[in-house]
Amino acid sequence: MLTAEPLPRREFLRQAAFSLAAGGMACGRGAKAADSPLPRLRDVFQGRPRIGVAVEGRLPDGVPADELELIRGQFDILTPANCMKWDHLQPREGQFDFQQADAFVAFAEANRQKVAGHCFVWNRPETSTKWVFQDGDKPADAALVLQRMQTHIRTVMGRYRGRVHSWDVVNEALDDGKAFLRRTPWTETLGDEVVAKAFQCARRADPAATLVYNDYNIETPAKRAKLLRLLAQLRDANARADVVGIQGHWEIDRVPFEQIEETIVALHGAGVKVAVTELDIDMVPREKYFAGGSQREEVVKQDPYAEGCPADVLQRQADQYGRLFQIFARHSEKLDRVTLWGVTDRVSWLNAWPWKRVNHPLLFDRQAKPKPAFFAVLDAARGR
Ligand code: GLA
Repeated sequence: MLTAEPLPRREFLRQAAFSLAAGGMACGRGAKAADSPLPRLRDVFQGRPRIGVAVEGRLPDGVPADELELIRGQFDILTPANCMKWDHLQPREGQFDFQQADAFVAFAEANRQKVAGHCFVWNRPETSTKWVFQDGDKPADAALVLQRMQTHIRTVMGRYRGRVHSWDVVNEALDDGKAFLRRTPWTETLGDEVVAKAFQCARRADPAATLVYNDYNIETPAKRAKLLRLLAQLRDANARADVVGIQGHWEIDRVPFEQIEETIVALHGAGVKVAVTELDIDMVPREKYFAGGSQREEVVKQDPYAEGCPADVLQRQADQYGRLFQIFARHSEKLDRVTLWGVTDRVSWLNAWPWKRVNHPLLFDRQAKPKPAFFAVLDAARGR
């Protein structure tokens, strides 16, 4: 059903009161009468917590002007969505390509923003850079893989020492099933110690950087228990993580609020800070896609919001974003940052994963205009 429900009056009036001064963009609804600038998340939150965004594409010239204005104006800290991943930085042994990453860091510095570096050891078979595990025609042995990992981390962190606030040292190591860590080329060669080895190396490379362990679904009790075990192992191995990144790729009507809050508290108890590193709220539920069986064929035909997302659904999303940020505001001293995975709905990866559809998961729409979710997040910051 695509007919728009009327906005609740309070929401309508507030949206009508703002227009987007930055970049000369009008906010839309009723903007002509009032020209007050759009509030900035970074000003309203004032670092409690820091608010970040992941940026795809080359900065600044590869990013559309309306998004650039939002990136510059709204956020404290920027994550490169892809240009600091291993495949990008060192596609072949010894051949580093820092062009895009250099431009990214320079952009953030010019704008007095921090950078969240992402990521070194990404523990999935499909994201483990192939040459790292080959030695000519043979599989590389543990010593060679370790040496390559250390060289990569040292080279990249050394280049940006003092200029990158935090590094996702290990991404997605924990297994979703019964195993502790996921079986991948990394764990097959270096064993479960790969995580500790990566953290030890990163600590030496830039002792002042904040080191992050990043993963998804770690707010769920089973994976959270594995995470706490991993953190204890890291401490014992003198390979401490400073921050745990909860990715936060959630779905509308299935955001696990209680588990998220419990996890923030549990991690604080375990002596680490928390970052929400990749936040978005998928509007087209995807659990059936992963349920297995024949349902997937039906699910991949679903594209319910191709012509736009109805106002009542956007409001539901706003309420859920609001509730999340109320939790974040309540625990802000335990948080390092909260980062959205993308600026506007048009660049979100959820338009293509796990199947192609028109999605609306972020705070700004396809015209780079603020959605009800944006205002709900502001309200949470202001304690309303
Ligand atoms: C994962 C990774 C990110 C990114 C997102 C989706 O969560 O950590 O680098 O690839 O998926 O785009």
